[in-house]
Amino acid sequence: MNVLIVHCHPEPHSFNAGLTGIAKESLECEGNEVVMSDLYAEEFDPVEGQYHYRARLRQDYFQALDEQRHHFDRNALPPDIQREIARLEWADLIILQFPLWWHGVPAMLKGWFDRVFVYGGLYTGSRRFDRGPLLGRRAICSVTTGAPEATFGPFGRSGDIANLMWPIHCSLYYVGLSVLSPHLTFGVQGGGLSYQQEAEFRHHLENAKQYWHDRITSIDQETPIPMSGWADWDAQGVLRSDHPLRWRA
Ligand SMILES: Cc1cc2nc3c(=O)[nH]c(=O)nc-3n(C[C@H](O)[C@H](O)[C@H](O)COP(=O)(O)O)c2cc1C
Repeated sequence: MNVLIVHCHPEPHSFNAGLTGIAKESLECEGNEVVMSDLYAEEFDPVEGQYHYRARLRQDYFQALDEQRHHFDRNALPPDIQREIARLEWADLIILQFPLWWHGVPAMLKGWFDRVFVYGGLYTGSRRFDRGPLLGRRAICSVTTGAPEATFGPFGRSGDIANLMWPIHCSLYYVGLSVLSPHLTFGVQGGGLSYQQEAEFRHHLENAKQYWHDRITSIDQETPIPMSGWADWDAQGVLRSDHPLRWRA
């Protein structure tokens, strides 16, 4: 299996870096090939903007989607984006490793989505969701949080984790990826706020590493989260009124 790990953390000795190291080592040990997109180490530029596009379709107005498509069609996307797309096309499994920052992905990773998931290349109007170009590949988010697990349940103060993950999962599915259930490591508060005694905290982190290692070693057996697709939606893009999932409506 070819595995791409998109690692997003500014500190090479962080807990997130530890999880990425575990994934890489465990997967390689089992004969898989692993490639890293280490966004901070590679100084990925996460800001979408005019300066990335040299063969402009329009000089008078910057329309990001049009320029993405125009440059993709002409093989003129910036080298860092061409590299990231090639890595995605090469991979059977994509692991996104990141800490939850302000209830979502860190800006660096958000910018990776903005710039790499190019219109015309990784999706078009007719090639999206279960017709997306990356169909057949799987993706998983491995996310660490500072706050403890209970606060991410329904009515929890951190917000329901299912809702927080939705924009990320939807973006992955949008380009055709099958999404595995996220790997959530709660309560990794390295500084500032603390929720546990030091010894208990260390124990929690060690268990979490082991749990990730165990999951990674059998990840090829996992079934993706079921998603609705084109056959389930009406002309407005809404789940058909006779769809079995609308049993409550
Ligand atoms: C800018 C920033 C925003 C954060 N926002 C959240 C948040 O919304 N929810 C949360 O539980 N933790 C939040 N945290 C805490 C991080 O998720 C936590 O420190 C990280 O998951 C720990 O992993 P690390 O030691 O590898 O950095 C935030 C941390 C930073 C630096």
